[in-house]
Amino acid sequence: MSNNIDASVWQNLVDNAKQAYQQAYAPYSEFRVGAAALTTDTKIVQGCNVENASYGLTVCAERNCIAQGVIHNPSNKTVEFTALVVYTEQEILTPPCGACRQVIAEFFPQDALIMAANHLNQQQHWTVAELLPDAFTPYNLINKT
Ligand code: THU
Repeated sequence: MSNNIDASVWQNLVDNAKQAYQQAYAPYSEFRVGAAALTTDTKIVQGCNVENASYGLTVCAERNCIAQGVIHNPSNKTVEFTALVVYTEQEILTPPCGACRQVIAEFFPQDALIMAANHLNQQQHWTVAELLPDAFTPYNLINKT
């Protein structure tokens, strides 16, 4: 089961996501987001949102976090992740946006847990399948003709 992760590891992920939050570049929305993900080889990678004066070029914290995992992957196999935390300092927890759900579905098993956390110690979990049921994934391309 890929979502069998210790409470101490979740806390470490929250701490890393909070640290990443401090690095957010969000001068336009002022909506700062940090993310941290656990790789199958138990490494933690971080990401923050990076906005742009051309607003549509903004990249969310989750996708920057996954990119870090791809960059720091030592193996010659595709990197895989088992958990991800999205951290904001908002009273309403921040779930991953639709674009990030698609990118998460590419690299996480369907039963991996995604957590939203905030500065009030509120938390919510979803499985990847709950966030994006019946996702289009690499498996859909295997039998392409
Ligand atoms: N944002 C994220 O980084 N992750 C999410 O899951 C939701 C939205 C960012 C994008 C933009 O910089 C700001 O939050 C407001 O949408």
